Amino acid sequence: MAKTLQTLGSNYTILIAISFFFLSTLVTSETHRFSRPLSLSKHGLKKEKLSHLHFYFHDIVSGRTPTAVKVAEAPTTNTSMTGFGTVVMMDDPLTIGPKSSSKLVGKAQGIYAVASQSEVGFLMALNFVFVEGKYNGSTLSVLGRNAVFSAVREMPIVGGSGLFRFARGYAHASTHQFNIKTGDAVVEYNVYVFHY
Ligand SMILES: *[C@@H]1O[C@H](CO)[C@@H](O)[C@H](O)[C@H]1NC(C)=O
Ligand SMILES: *[C@@H]1O[C@H](CO)[C@@H](O)[C@H](O)[C@H]1NC(C)=O
Repeated sequence: MAKTLQTLGSNYTILIAISFFFLSTLVTSETHRFSRPLSLSKHGLKKEKLSHLHFYFHDIVSGRTPTAVKVAEAPTTNTSMTGFGTVVMMDDPLTIGPKSSSKLVGKAQGIYAVASQSEVGFLMALNFVFVEGKYNGSTLSVLGRNAVFSAVREMPIVGGSGLFRFARGYAHASTHQFNIKTGDAVVEYNVYVFHY
């Protein structure tokens, strides 16, 4: 009898605990909303614009202060015709003109990796971090394929921040200068991007 009462008592405690759990869940779901629709104009999103950005990208792999450094490779990379498996981290200057001494408008920060075994094709995963004028602090994110020996390479712009929130578009890259001795390259970029 005593045992039965004890069991009943502990069952009752469990019941109370469960009730509290469900009650608190109900209360929580009332005070915290996960999602809600927003008005575009109230959120400052009035009219979508299309912008064209033009700059030169300097990939400096040689000398004492390279802007792009190899950070990894596969054990088989040195026997690959294309350097398959090489991973490079870059913080490459972006300038208004083709000369490295011309005005800095931003940096290309991220990774390029040799992702093709049959040609020199890079996987590009990087952010353009701008410092020029009203774009200072805004970024554009690129995720794409770069077959560097093609005349024009197209890479998607998959997003952005700051003035480039909600950005989408594409970048066209064409090699302006390639130093076969050092491996240094200057690449012209034309970026077309929708943003607000
Ligand atoms: C490639 O690199 C490995 C070490 O990562 C080395 O053992 C091998 O001898 C190299 N092969 C060639 C062809 O250089
Ligand atoms: C960009 O912004 C940073 C910090 O907000 C500031 O220090 C820097 O001077 C600005 N650069 C330009 C070129 O306006």
